[in-house]
Amino acid sequence: MFQLLLDVGPYCLCFYAVMILGVLVFLVSRLWKMLRQLNQESRADIPPGSLGLPLIGETIQFMAAINSGKGFYDFVRVRSLRYGNCFKTSIFGETHVFVSSTESAKAILNNDMGRFTKRYIKSIAELVGNQSLLCASPHHHKLLRGRLVNLFSTTSISLLVQQFDELIVNALGVWEDEGTVIVLNEALKITFKAMCKMLLSLESGPELELLQKDVGRVCEAMLALPLRFPWTRFYKGFQARERIMSMLEKIISRRRRGLDASAEDFLQHLLAKDDNSCSGGLHRLTDAEIQDNILTMIIAGQDTTASAITWMVKYLGENEEALEAIKAEQLHLAEKTSKKLFLTLDDLNEMHYASKVVKESLRMASIVPWFPRLVLQDCEIEGYKIKKGWNVNIDARAIHLDPMVHNEPNNFNPSRFDDESKPYSFLAFGMGARTCLGMNMAKAMMLVFLHRLLTTYKWKVMDSDSSTENWAIFSRLRSGCPVHVTRI
Ligand code: HEM
Repeated sequence: MFQLLLDVGPYCLCFYAVMILGVLVFLVSRLWKMLRQLNQESRADIPPGSLGLPLIGETIQFMAAINSGKGFYDFVRVRSLRYGNCFKTSIFGETHVFVSSTESAKAILNNDMGRFTKRYIKSIAELVGNQSLLCASPHHHKLLRGRLVNLFSTTSISLLVQQFDELIVNALGVWEDEGTVIVLNEALKITFKAMCKMLLSLESGPELELLQKDVGRVCEAMLALPLRFPWTRFYKGFQARERIMSMLEKIISRRRRGLDASAEDFLQHLLAKDDNSCSGGLHRLTDAEIQDNILTMIIAGQDTTASAITWMVKYLGENEEALEAIKAEQLHLAEKTSKKLFLTLDDLNEMHYASKVVKESLRMASIVPWFPRLVLQDCEIEGYKIKKGWNVNIDARAIHLDPMVHNEPNNFNPSRFDDESKPYSFLAFGMGARTCLGMNMAKAMMLVFLHRLLTTYKWKVMDSDSSTENWAIFSRLRSGCPVHVTRI
């Protein structure tokens, strides 16, 4: 063969080489075309969107949005404008799909076929603990929820209304001395005290202050990369979690030794040996389950309710018509309740317009902007194929602000709730088996706050900026809503 090539001379050699190269180029280009066609066919039914770089995906862009001053939701907002109602991305090494139609929300939250389960990103799961209701497997979640839901009975909410009213009356009493107050800071103090009293009967003292600081650190670490180096935000949050766990351990041990056993709080109910609900076949919680879920409830209840109160004060302060309507209702109610020391649950049931103000504030603010779920079986959403192991997130904020779902969605209009709203169009507290456990409690806290504020002060919002805080897991107003108050 070699001899033959030498024999045919250099010109023929070149000719053969060009021929072979030509055939090769032809074959490779055909193969490339076939592969592209195949790829396009399989891509046609998976959601649009970019998976970013190998391994890290779009994590850098996600972290940049958290740090940008526009808030972490901006990452989702920009992509949903680009790709529409359903898109995919990759964060923290996992594929995430975001969906924002009421039909998809219904299918996922109803979860009739058991195709989805709740799952948070790794950092959140590690900080709240693996026994938390937020991270439990479907079976474990059922046991935990069955036990915890008893704590939120009408009787305990009635008690909370009085406790919360007392806290607010005391807190608002000193506002006029300050002239200008940052509503978010005040609301955080009030809701934290309310949660700690309700859960642990902690009312004041160094233990409460330490706990408040540590809960703040845990919340700040929730969106951080789960890196355990001493200088990282996540590490500091994790250390704070450990301190909270050991504080709760000590409190539980005191109760078990019969100290503070007369306390009427959630912890005492969970520890009670003769608890009726457990004799009725319900799961008795272990100490680890109690600890993780007490922390979960503080986090789930404090920041959310305080943020909601802050947005509500801002929206009302900026909407004269709604403010006048609610004032008339509350002043009328105040005439009836003036002889009573504290408000009752029955009084709250008469606050019809205020209830709509609460709902409208929650719709516009979307405190929990999206709800994450893990896909347990291959399925189809919005006509796209969704694979087992992916995460789907229901973009509640996009639904709340969709003009096809809510007329003039950017206008604060509590009366929109006079008419029956479309199914799955109001998702402030979620829906289905994972609906917010503290929903009625949060609404009660917001109504009591409104009543006391409206019947005590006039206020003027001093900063109209609506941007949200960096690193906050819930939508929190960055300015904190500074208001100037004058006693009526
Ligand atoms: C305005 C205040 C609040 C808002 C906007 C809010 C919102 C939500 C939302 C949207 C969910 C469901 C998320 C999902 O489906 O993935 C949820 C779950 C939860 N919330 Fe709230 N919440 C508030 C107040 C509270 C309070 C006061 C507590 C308790 C004391 C609480 C405890 C919980 C718990 C334990 C869950 C998990 C339920 C489960 O997974 O079974 N929340 N909340």
